[in-house]
Amino acid sequence: MFLKILKWTGLGLVALIALLLIGYGFIAHNIGSRAEKPYPFPAENLTIPADTQALNRGQHLAVIKGCTDCHGSDLSGKIMLDDAALGQLVSSNLTKGKGGLPADYQTADWLRALRHGVNRSGKPLLFMPSHETTLLSAQDMAAVIAYCQSLPAVDHSLPANDLGPVVKIMAYFDKMPLLAVEKIDHNRPMLAQADTTEGIAQGKYLAISCSGCHQPTFKGGEPMAPGLPPVPDLTRTGQAGKWTKGQFITTLRTGRRPDGRQIDNENMPWKMTAQYTDKELASLYEFFQSLQ
Ligand code: HEC
Ligand code: HEC
Repeated sequence: MFLKILKWTGLGLVALIALLLIGYGFIAHNIGSRAEKPYPFPAENLTIPADTQALNRGQHLAVIKGCTDCHGSDLSGKIMLDDAALGQLVSSNLTKGKGGLPADYQTADWLRALRHGVNRSGKPLLFMPSHETTLLSAQDMAAVIAYCQSLPAVDHSLPANDLGPVVKIMAYFDKMPLLAVEKIDHNRPMLAQADTTEGIAQGKYLAISCSGCHQPTFKGGEPMAPGLPPVPDLTRTGQAGKWTKGQFITTLRTGRRPDGRQIDNENMPWKMTAQYTDKELASLYEFFQSLQ
């Protein structure tokens, strides 16, 4: 009797493992082919300014949109993550140094990346949040490209991305934004200019950078990855919604909540929000306060 049970549970276990392996094989193949699928977007153009005001705006955007977080402070790329389960995630060297963008990398190539989420040969960029950068106004898009094009060349050669099993599984279940190209409405024209006066409209535009983690509803939700803290609700129904504007701004500047609890920059990029202007943080506050 006992031996029989053992035999059947043993067989059950073998069958389960076989099923899991087949399932994983399917997922790995599915993600692999989606990551290699070419997208033939027609070349687009945009007039790139060269004045100091635009370059300064571009530099500010590179910081507040997280380009420097992921691509490094000199934008020469970095190994963002190297882990057995998650794999090796690498951001590109955006300068024209060795290992960087080719000398003939054009504005059309920048637009393919920032508006459509593909490289110049039309292959999907992995982990590049193009579903967010695609929503930049034409004016901001031009400013950030102008700034990136003005960067001094940095020689920095990097390895290729190498997706680990956990990343493939999470991406398959849409728990990780791996393939921005699939999330973008590619026919959507760029907004000409974003509102730059303090208020809800500016806050809404800026909050695109928060929506990836705090959710498009800004109600937060599950942790971004196993082991990370849950993502808080930023609207009036959440804890931060009860803070004053001053407390909200101080928290996003210092990473310290009004009750003294420190936020880890690894979980919530407060070193990035610290570099928003007072006006930008005030607008974000007003926008979140407008949400129930
Ligand atoms: C969450 C991290 C992250 C952020 C934020 C981010 N990038 Fe990226 N970016 C990446 C990664 C990773 C790649 C490499 C993708 C690949 O090789 O498949 C990449 C690739 C690119 C490329 C493509 C280069 C090429 O080979 O064609 C450009 C251009 C780029 N990023 C510009 C920017 C700019 C400008 C910003 C800010 C507005 C930005 N990125 C913000 C992670 C990020
Ligand atoms: C990479 C994911 C990520 C991004 C991007 C992000 N956040 Fe967060 N945020 C978190 C997480 C996770 C926490 C909770 C941190 C903790 O509990 O330690 C958090 C906490 C906060 C808090 C504290 C809320 C509370 O109730 O304690 C505020 C305020 C906040 N974020 C605002 C923003 C704003 C504004 C943006 C966009 C400009 C933003 N976050 C972008 C992940 C993110």
